[in-house]
Amino acid sequence: MKIAVLFGGTSEERDVSIASAAQIIPALRDLGHEVFAVDTATGRLGFAEERRLLSAAVGALPPSDTEIARMRGGALALTPAADFRDADVVFLALHGGAGEDGRIQAVLDLAGIAYTGSNHIASAAAMDKDLSKRLFRSAGVPTPDWLMSPATGHEVGAALGWPVVVKPNKQGSTVGLTVVREAAQLPDAIAQALRFDDEVMVERFIAGREFTVGVLDGAALPVGEIIAPGEVFDYESKYQAGGASETFPAEIPLAESELLQDYARRVHQVLKLGAYSRADFRRDTAGGFWCLEANSLPGMTATSLLPQAAKAAGIEFPELLDRICQGALRASR
Ligand SMILES: Nc1ncnc2c1ncn2[C@@H]1O[C@H](COP(=O)(O)OP(=O)(O)O)[C@@H](O)[C@H]1O
Ligand SMILES: [Mg+2]
Repeated sequence: MKIAVLFGGTSEERDVSIASAAQIIPALRDLGHEVFAVDTATGRLGFAEERRLLSAAVGALPPSDTEIARMRGGALALTPAADFRDADVVFLALHGGAGEDGRIQAVLDLAGIAYTGSNHIASAAAMDKDLSKRLFRSAGVPTPDWLMSPATGHEVGAALGWPVVVKPNKQGSTVGLTVVREAAQLPDAIAQALRFDDEVMVERFIAGREFTVGVLDGAALPVGEIIAPGEVFDYESKYQAGGASETFPAEIPLAESELLQDYARRVHQVLKLGAYSRADFRRDTAGGFWCLEANSLPGMTATSLLPQAAKAAGIEFPELLDRICQGALRASR
């Protein structure tokens, strides 16, 4: 097949996307596909540029505001007519922003081009945590109580108690997220989240263990447990070597992993997600599970969570990529 790998872009998760593409591109070439790389911020890459960009590691922090503003100033380099007309599939190695929230999916739909992942409606629903959580509840999947800002310290204390998590409604990679222990810290945390989104969520903090569950072709993959050094799985522990320990399959009783898998399937269905997704959960100290969010384009380096889950199910990285591409072809028929 001829595959265009779309990556980069101008979201906070640009560097994470570059890391995904750096592993997806050679793996697809090894499978015998003809692959070209397109950075949605700058356009189609020549071979030398591809080598330079894709060999960078994810930094300890997301790209700076000035760097992102500079790239956003340029024209969107997503020009389907020129670059994509002869691709059989567009592989979305994008995370966050227009690449994950349905806007790029809608453009590709309009251009009649097959792409990996979920359609524009499901992508938009998954990106919007407030909307997703309403749908989780309608599907019988527990999710922590929440309020949307503006909310005063008094309202938050009365409705949720302390601590709470303040986060942008449509972000990823734990960017702009703060754990808040008392009313006095709330305004600063909301201001921090507002830097990344005009909608801010205030959610009850769930102390306890963290789990993630991937879904591939409608089936739930083995549950993984994440043990981060701090109380949340933050940007640094997500992407720096040795940042968090990740165990697949998680060491929990079978009944608990089956319950989590059932929740993950329900989340996938209620959001109408496509060939694959990954949902994040916390387990409180009493043993209750709470869904935090679903990811329509989860990280895709060979050691990212979804590929680790697939591997635990006996599906190696190249086969995973192949199945994702097949899903794109099926969805476009
Ligand atoms: N309500 C919560 N209680 C406890 N920890 C949370 C809560 N919400 C988020 N976190 C922590 O922050 C991380 C990122 O939050 P999440 O909602 O998954 O957003 P994203 O991954 O899109 O940034 C989670 O993996 C978890 O460690
Ligand atoms: Mg998450």
